[in-house]
Amino acid sequence: MMPRRRVAILISGRGSNMAALIEAARAKDYPAEIALVVSNRPEAAGLASAASSGIATVVVDHKRFASREAFDAALDAALEQTRIEIVCLAGFMRMLTVPFVAKWRGRMLNIHPSLLPEFKGLDTHARALAAGVKTHGCTAHFVVPELDSGPIILQEKVPVLAGDTAETLAARVLEAEHRIYPAALRLLAEGKLDAPSR
Ligand code: GRF
Repeated sequence: MMPRRRVAILISGRGSNMAALIEAARAKDYPAEIALVVSNRPEAAGLASAASSGIATVVVDHKRFASREAFDAALDAALEQTRIEIVCLAGFMRMLTVPFVAKWRGRMLNIHPSLLPEFKGLDTHARALAAGVKTHGCTAHFVVPELDSGPIILQEKVPVLAGDTAETLAARVLEAEHRIYPAALRLLAEGKLDAPSR
């Protein structure tokens, strides 16, 4: 079998997508291993759950850096030190600089809680409800410099049900996120995807 690709997951909070990736990577035939979890927030709940799964964790606290460039340089150093090959953003709430994104082009994924290109950005569930859509969902995609705009790898549709609140809808979408994100990482790690051209 091919050596597993070394993956870092970048988080800022709860880390449920991180946990789904960690769980998937426990399977013997999974083509990636989670070698590192990085948080930009020291209080992120996901750090403790990663550590309890035996995964190395590191905090790169954005408040300790004077610029985005300096923060991204520290982030990149942490990834290189751990010989990371693939980066998965999972609820990572920082904009990344163009040089950082360019460096990891074709090797950096994100999970977004809408059917892109609909509802880029924040508060996707409230906005989907306000728009009255009947079908919502989630998207795993490559990261490009423009927010939530990279090539789509996988999507899963989720019905909007009568009486849904942003919270009930978010919970239904999150279950789908936890299915498609590990599947998307598998495709990338197996070399089955073309890198974005920019
Ligand atoms: C998820 O809905 C993800 O799609 C979005 O932020 C949320 C993170 O949740 N980018 P978690 O930290 O993975 O639980």
